[in-house]
Order: sequence, then structure tokens, then C-alpha cells
Amino acid sequence: MGSNFKSYSLPSFFLLLSLPAFAYGWGFDGHQIICKIAQDRLSESAAAAVKELLPAYAGDDLSTLCPWADRIKFRYRWSSELHYIDTPDDLCTYNYNRDCKDEGGVRGRCVSGAITNYTNQLLTYGSSADEPQYNLTKALLFLSHFMGDIHQPLHVGFTSDRGGNTIDVRWFRRKSVLHSVWDKEIIETAEDRFYDNVMEEFVDTLKQNITGDWSDQVVKWEKCNNNDVTCPDIYASESIKAACNWAYKDVKNNTALEDDYFLSRLPIVNLRLAESAVRLAVTLNRIFK
Ligand SMILES: *[C@@H]1O[C@H](CO)[C@@H](O)[C@H](O)[C@H]1NC(C)=O
Ligand SMILES: *[C@@H]1O[C@H](CO)[C@@H](O)[C@H](O)[C@H]1NC(C)=O
Ligand SMILES: *[C@@H]1O[C@H](CO)[C@@H](O)[C@H](O)[C@H]1NC(C)=O
Ligand SMILES: *[C@@H]1O[C@H](CO)[C@@H](O)[C@H](O)[C@H]1NC(C)=O
Repeated sequence: MGSNFKSYSLPSFFLLLSLPAFAYGWGFDGHQIICKIAQDRLSESAAAAVKELLPAYAGDDLSTLCPWADRIKFRYRWSSELHYIDTPDDLCTYNYNRDCKDEGGVRGRCVSGAITNYTNQLLTYGSSADEPQYNLTKALLFLSHFMGDIHQPLHVGFTSDRGGNTIDVRWFRRKSVLHSVWDKEIIETAEDRFYDNVMEEFVDTLKQNITGDWSDQVVKWEKCNNNDVTCPDIYASESIKAACNWAYKDVKNNTALEDDYFLSRLPIVNLRLAESAVRLAVTLNRIFK
């Protein structure tokens, strides 16, 4: 997924023109949905810290800035590879030591490493150092975004198709690529068909399931091994499994995807959005406890 960044010698206007064809994260709605649900689940102290870290123009609404990391990834070129993980084709497994690196092979430069990085930065919140080491506003916005991305199955996809970015598909009547189907098409089609295009209604249904039908599972979603603050390697392993079992399954280049695919995959998207939101909230609650 990062190979379009190889051509550093291209004039930058050309690079900008050539980039938007590739998608990089849950779309705008996906990130907003996750952060709206997460912010409602914050403890008092985490809510206060988030309020203090958010810029005033966010109006205490984390979700307005959850897509931010996508907007700045061309300006902060170094951050673009922190949105995903490339795993070996067809293996359907994730391994931190094998897979979490950038194209130059530098360890930790992937979405799992980034979640650990920004969690550790946020853990310095409230420490008495005179000179703050990190910009914790940025750390909060990156963490909130990457916690979403790591749950998008195709953000932990195969290397050669760049997480489905080079797999052309038809989504109902439109041309798309498989990666975008999972970033946004499934969500937008669901909003259109089931929620009158009102994102809040989608959010409310997910919230009801989290406190209702899924409440038993939520305890498991929140759990990390060894009492870790966050556990991105677990989330990444789940994503590549879902990528193989659902996203890539029965899709070849130029496949037409319609109701069969949409209706069978929507429950997976709903689940990943919910898991992501619950885990963002519990991670922030542990950080700011
Ligand atoms: C960690 O955060 C710093 C500061 O934002 C950034 O320069 C670095 O690239 C990050 N590394 C990873 C792996 O996220
Ligand atoms: C931290 O980052 C935010 C978001 O980019 C920016 O608005 C703010 O000015 C930065 N704070 C400092 C102290 O540099
Ligand atoms: C899919 O087909 C298009 C042409 O329709 C081609 O450009 C692209 O490279 C193919 N992708 C893969 C993964 O084979
Ligand atoms: C909520 O849960 C019900 C029953 O488990 C399921 O049919 C429905 O699709 C779920 N809705 C969402 C948005 O996840």
C-alpha cells in the first residue's frame, strides 16, 4: 500500500494528483462513528484530559478531528506508512517482528507500532517535566485515528495488492477498489439504506448493541494480556483473519459486488467499528486513569 511513495523524484504536484486514487483509512464516516461512540464511554478523568488536549475549535468533540491524520499524511509524509500493515500474501497471519516495518525495513513503523508510540506519549500526560517532550494533542489525534485503522480488515492486508488498493471492483453501479469498499462503501451504503443517511442513527444502533446484545463480548474486547494499556497486535491479528475470511473471500480483480457481498459483510464492518470504539475508549481510560 505504500509503494506509491517510492517515486520521490516526481514533482510534488504530480504526486498529489496521483495519490487520491488510493484510500488509506476508514472513510470520514467510519472514523467519526468510532470516535463518537468512544468519547461517550470515557471515564471522568479521561474525558477531562481529552477536553483539555482538544483544540478549542473542536468544541469538545473528538470525532471532528478523528479523520485529521488522513488529511495531513501528505504534508507529514513520514506518517503515511503508520496507517497500515503489509502482511505476506495469502498467509492470513500477522506477526509484529515480521510485518511491522516500513518499506526501508525500519522496525515498528506500522499501525501497531504507531498505536504503542502514541499511547506511550500520552502516558506522559500530567508529568511534571518543564519542557513537554511531545505534542499530546497530536498524539491523541493520531491514536484515535490509528485505533480505527487497525480494525479495518484491509489495513492489515496483503502486500502485493496493497491491502486491496489494486483490486478493481464494481460496487453496485460504480467503479471502486476493494480497499475503499471496506473504508467507506459498505458504511455509506448502509447509511443510505438503513439510516436515512443520518450518521447519528447508525451510531445509536451500534451503541445499543454494545450495551445490549454484545455486552458479554465487550468485556473480552477490552481485555489485554499482561494488563497492557493497549494491545494492537491482537487487533491486527483479528483484522488479517477478517480480511481473509470476508474481505478478500470470493473477490477477484474486476468482480462486481452487490447485495450478496454487502449484506454478508456489513455485520463484520459493524463489529469492527464497535470493537474499535470500545478499545479506543478503554485505552484512553487506562492512559488517563
Ligand atoms: C512516534 O511519534 C513521533 C512523534 O510524533 C514520530 O516522529 C514517529 O515517527 C512515531 N513513530 C511511530 C512508529 O509511530
Ligand atoms: C500541537 O499540535 C496541534 C495540532 O497540530 C497544533 O494545533 C498545536 O499548535 C501544537 N502545539 C504546540 C505546543 O506546538
Ligand atoms: C486489475 O485489473 C486492472 C485492469 O482492469 C489492472 O490495471 C490491475 O493491475 C489489476 N490488478 C490486479 C491485482 O491484478
Ligand atoms: C445489532 O444487533 C442485531 C442483533 O444481534 C443485529 O441484527 C444488527 O445488525 C446489529 N446492528 C448493528 C448496527 O450492528
